[in-house]
Amino acid sequence: MTAKLDIRFVAIGGPLSPTTVLLAGPDAVLGAASRRLVDKAHAHVQRAATAADFKGKARGTLEILAPDRLDVNRLLLVGTGKASALEELEWINLGGLAYAQIVARKGAEASLVAETAGDDAAVGTRLGALLAYGALLRSYSFRKYRSREDEEGANSANPPRRLVRLNVHCADPEAARRAFAQLGPVAEGVFIARDLVNEPANTLGPVEFAERIRDHAVAGLEVEILDEAQLGDLKMGALLGVAQGSERPARVVVMQWHGAKSKRAKPVCFVGKGVVFDTGGISMKPAAGMEDMKGDMAGAACVAGLMQALAGRKANVNAVGLVGLVENMPSGKAQRPGDIVTSMSGQTIEVLNTDAEGRLVLADVLWYAQDRFKPRFMVDLATLTGAIIVALGKEYAGLFANDDRLAGELAEAGEATGEKVWRMPLAKAYDKLIDGRTADIKNIGGRNAGAITGAQFLQRFVKDTPWAHLDVAGTAMDSTRGDINQSWASGWGVRLLDRLVADKYEKADK
Ligand code: BES
Ligand code: MN
Ligand code: ZN
Repeated sequence: MTAKLDIRFVAIGGPLSPTTVLLAGPDAVLGAASRRLVDKAHAHVQRAATAADFKGKARGTLEILAPDRLDVNRLLLVGTGKASALEELEWINLGGLAYAQIVARKGAEASLVAETAGDDAAVGTRLGALLAYGALLRSYSFRKYRSREDEEGANSANPPRRLVRLNVHCADPEAARRAFAQLGPVAEGVFIARDLVNEPANTLGPVEFAERIRDHAVAGLEVEILDEAQLGDLKMGALLGVAQGSERPARVVVMQWHGAKSKRAKPVCFVGKGVVFDTGGISMKPAAGMEDMKGDMAGAACVAGLMQALAGRKANVNAVGLVGLVENMPSGKAQRPGDIVTSMSGQTIEVLNTDAEGRLVLADVLWYAQDRFKPRFMVDLATLTGAIIVALGKEYAGLFANDDRLAGELAEAGEATGEKVWRMPLAKAYDKLIDGRTADIKNIGGRNAGAITGAQFLQRFVKDTPWAHLDVAGTAMDSTRGDINQSWASGWGVRLLDRLVADKYEKADK
């Protein structure tokens, strides 16, 4: 991430920036305050709309250059359609769309007038905050390694091409600011996750990942880093077996946020797969596309971003996040196909394919999480299988759960945030496929139902805790770009799980 977009909530009648976005409803009608703002140019606006056949349909846009007698360079109209019909997510997406319209033109500063035409938005005073949130999410890009980028930068004679400040004009700026105080930290968490996933593996090993979490922890987020000796004492033989092929030692990071009234209230728990690079190990992956395996820690990145988001907005909940950080490498010390390891749970695992490593890491971290925290529920996130991409593509993450209520809550949060999940089955018959030959369990189940046998494997390390597994191999990286994400790393899951907590696990806790 580079310099963050500076968002200001200002009075709706305040001075307009050279580029100004207005929302337009059906028949290109503007809201009362917007109309007043462009009053002198109103005839020009109407003529332009007619000439361009702009009808204010949702997501339609129109640029009006040098509007008559108005001190702005351009007006950008963004259509909303019938505003009262739009849901929260659609406003967020419109914010992203408005941002895209703005940055397609030059200029460091822009105005976005958060007002609908007559037909009031159901989201009320949150409108400005939602549009700003969408714009902010869209503004992310990973430019850290572009050495020429800085030369483009600003001086007084040569203003930056990129937008640096967005003025969001609101009827009630204070209310918008208050609403945004809950959203800003979530965007921050999404950016943390995207940054981690975009970062290449040469600069982000397990140690660096752990340090980044510790060094950037917001106030109140407790961070604990377990090193190899401690993981050995805990008998995490499955996780350590994966790590042993790498020169870089494993880490497990435990993040705790105590935000509930009662510090002793059971926590909600999130667990992430953090394979900083997955070569496949001795069962090595083919060369083509292997570079994407720098993102095999996207589950862990999501957990790190989520915990920051919860702490950042002071969520009224006790939450714990754990990430298992390893690198899966082939070497003279690497584990071999056929090796048998003993997990922390005591169950033995026959490693028939060293490329099915994520489940080995999670087996120990899931067990440890339940053992230590006795959580209300556990949700794990993992770029676990290519098979889930075959099944669901890049639109939905795979959801597996031992608990219908938790599954339902996740599906609901998925619809609300657009980070959608599709439930997949767990069943005895699938579980049988991973019964061990010479050990208790084998780490692959054969060609069929690959995403399911991966999930069944994880379930063997869940005792009686409500648990859900999200296979995010298709959604966390190189997923479909959209209004609020243009980056290879989507930061998938931060908004979903923040929403799950906010809607279902905070209110009951007050
Ligand atoms: N990290 C991969 C899964 C993956 C594939 C994530 C493509 C993102 C994109 C995982 O560790 C893996 O290699 N899974 C194997 C499992 C198999 C050996 C049972 C797979 O999916 O092929
Ligand atoms: Mn693998
Ligand atoms: Zn992997």
